[in-house]
Amino acid sequence: MEYRQFGSTGQQVSVIEMGTWCIDLADRGTAIRALQTGLDHGMNHIDTAEMYRDAELVIRDAIRERRDEAFLVSKVLPHNASRQGTRRACERSLRRLGTDRLDCYLLHWRGPFPLEETNAGFQELEREGKILSWGVSNFDADDLEEAYGIAERAGEDIACDQVLYHLEQRAIEHAVLPSCIGHRLAVTAYSPFGPDDFPGPHTQGGRVLAEIAEAHDATPRQVALAFLVRHPAVFAIAKASNPQHTAENAGAAGLVLSDEEIASINRVFPRGPRPRTLPTL
Ligand SMILES: NC(=O)c1ccc[n+]([C@@H]2O[C@H](COP(=O)([O-])OP(=O)(O)OC[C@H]3O[C@@H](n4cnc5c(N)ncnc54)[C@H](OP(=O)(O)O)[C@@H]3O)[C@@H](O)[C@H]2O)c1
Repeated sequence: MEYRQFGSTGQQVSVIEMGTWCIDLADRGTAIRALQTGLDHGMNHIDTAEMYRDAELVIRDAIRERRDEAFLVSKVLPHNASRQGTRRACERSLRRLGTDRLDCYLLHWRGPFPLEETNAGFQELEREGKILSWGVSNFDADDLEEAYGIAERAGEDIACDQVLYHLEQRAIEHAVLPSCIGHRLAVTAYSPFGPDDFPGPHTQGGRVLAEIAEAHDATPRQVALAFLVRHPAVFAIAKASNPQHTAENAGAAGLVLSDEEIASINRVFPRGPRPRTLPTL
């Protein structure tokens, strides 16, 4: 596995991470094995959220004896993200995850509460050792500017922005990624395979991925993940409830694409113009 420093946290985190949205809908034992397979392969970053129903309970069972191997991330829902609400949501997540700390805690997306309030909740949780760092999700560049100002005044660092990023949705490359690089935030790419069907061999893009994969003795999905994490600030969160899928995704780490291969991918999955608002799921 390849590790990188996760934003300003100083923590070494696997470039390919494990997502858990809907993992509770899979067979429980298989889902637990999928997460443990990821840990076996050195994927230490597990992403969850209070919104993901019982995913936190699946993680609790997967890391029961392996908590120290995991960089655990959860998220507070915007409508809970008042100062006190953030604290209460975090404490609920800690209980459900069966742990005393989160490595990083995120605001899931911007909601009705001023960022100062959420920030104050994060700071209190950090002082109590319940969270070790905090960040945001689905923040566009202008949201980030506002968040930097608030964090700076409080003498705090924002660890990451978790955003939608896959071959057919590259909007973050226009402004979010440069902003995060400038402020030393990690960028975590969610839904890295895209919410629709992954490009199959009958499509032009799928054929390019397959050709590159063959040259590296890899798979098209591994090529897609390697493309997303080609920039050192970027990590990719792939969700898999099937242990074989987890193992395949872990294999993307260390796959280095040549300039020509990156150019071929750019041709079939162009970045496109900057949309008016940041796409989210
Ligand atoms: N911050 C946010 O707003 C936000 C929004 C969406 C997602 N997220 C996070 O990002 C994570 C990833 O996004 P996602 O769950 O939307 O989508 P994803 O990771 O792009 O795709 C998940 C789907 O791909 C399948 N899959 C995974 N690896 C595979 C492989 N090697 N071969 C074939 N199929 C494979 C999974 O199947 P199996 O499950 O059957 O293995 C699942 O159906 C989420 O789980 C969540 O933690 C965050």
